[in-house]
Amino acid sequence: MQVLQSPEYVQIELGDRSYPIVIGPDLLDALASRAELPDAASALIVTNTTVQPLYAERVRAALSGKYRSIHIVALPDGEVHKDWQTLNRIYDALLGAGCDRKTVLFALGGGVVGDMTGFAAASYMRGVPFIQLPTTLLAQVDSSVGGKTAINHPLGKNMIGAFYQPHLVVCDLDTLSTLPARELGAGLAEVIKYGPIYDMVFLDWIEQNIDALMSRDPGALAHAVRRSCEIKAEVVGQDERESGLRAILNFGHTFGHAIEAGLGYGQWLHGEAVGCGMVMASHLSMRLGGVDAAFVERLTALIGRAGLPVRAPVLGADRYIELMRVDKKSEGGEIRFVVLEKPGSAVMRGAPDALVREVIAHCCA
Ligand code: NAD
Ligand code: GLY
Repeated sequence: MQVLQSPEYVQIELGDRSYPIVIGPDLLDALASRAELPDAASALIVTNTTVQPLYAERVRAALSGKYRSIHIVALPDGEVHKDWQTLNRIYDALLGAGCDRKTVLFALGGGVVGDMTGFAAASYMRGVPFIQLPTTLLAQVDSSVGGKTAINHPLGKNMIGAFYQPHLVVCDLDTLSTLPARELGAGLAEVIKYGPIYDMVFLDWIEQNIDALMSRDPGALAHAVRRSCEIKAEVVGQDERESGLRAILNFGHTFGHAIEAGLGYGQWLHGEAVGCGMVMASHLSMRLGGVDAAFVERLTALIGRAGLPVRAPVLGADRYIELMRVDKKSEGGEIRFVVLEKPGSAVMRGAPDALVREVIAHCCA
């Protein structure tokens, strides 16, 4: 597949909060040339202890002509640290360095760093600008785009947060070369997601290119990131605050969040839980008449080929249901699921308890 030479752009259209996603190789070193970077005296690069030694000094060097003082804070790595205590380290760094209300935050890392940096940016001095520099596949195709920011609560995933859009997203595809294979697979879960909910042509393409994606073919990765961002841009542009359509992006997430919380954050990666959650959600879709058994098998096979778990952990049906009730999509205690009404199209709806229990019994190992 052809290698991308120059950056490609996907625009998020949100009126005066619109911004571009820039996608391509070798983008971090040229960061300061981006016209979207806000003027300020200072910048804070928020990263974690794994990503810092890989990329933080490069980003600092790239920004040195633009900002007079550039600080770095490296958070502990892992979903288990996506909490108040870790978030507070960003505020400590901002206040400790005398950062003002123009200071620009740069989120350098995966979705955990991105979500926490976004929330810190939304709340520090009632809002400072931030830039997403996603370095995982999952963050490049999903979490860095669209302005959802959050931390976890012991009782539920991403329960404390805000909608707050970045000024710019820069997806440097070269950063994916250092990503562990397990994390690449987790990112593929969110890539696969866009097919059954929105674009069957893309699903066909992913099936044909899953081996190229797994072996990090640069052209395949570039296409997957660009098409995923295009779909996310179309959805977020119509429904920024998830009053309807945007919920389809949560396909597999109701079951997936229950798996993550039920096993303890960090046991399964977010993308792994979403992959298995999509298998469960497609079984529920079949029982509700939206897709047939052949489609469920097809999707399950693809998720398996991406190295993701397709059998759900045994938590007990009551526990699954208890955890899913805490989901943000629940209304008045009723769990709302994203299900396929046909291949390539999803809706949010409730489902009879008996069907949900059937799915859990069928999908648990
Ligand atoms: P992550 O942020 O934990 O990153 C995965 C691992 O890869 C970490 O250990 C990280 O240190 C490491 N890493 C990151 N970049 C690397 C690189 N280039 N080379 C080597 N190692 C690297 O996990 P994730 O999968 O990126 O994100 C998951 C999080 O994103 C979850 O908390 C999820 O809730 C959130 N999320 C948010 C949205 C949203 O719309 N805001 C959407 C999807 C997921
Ligand atoms: N990842 C789901 C959303 O951004 O809405």
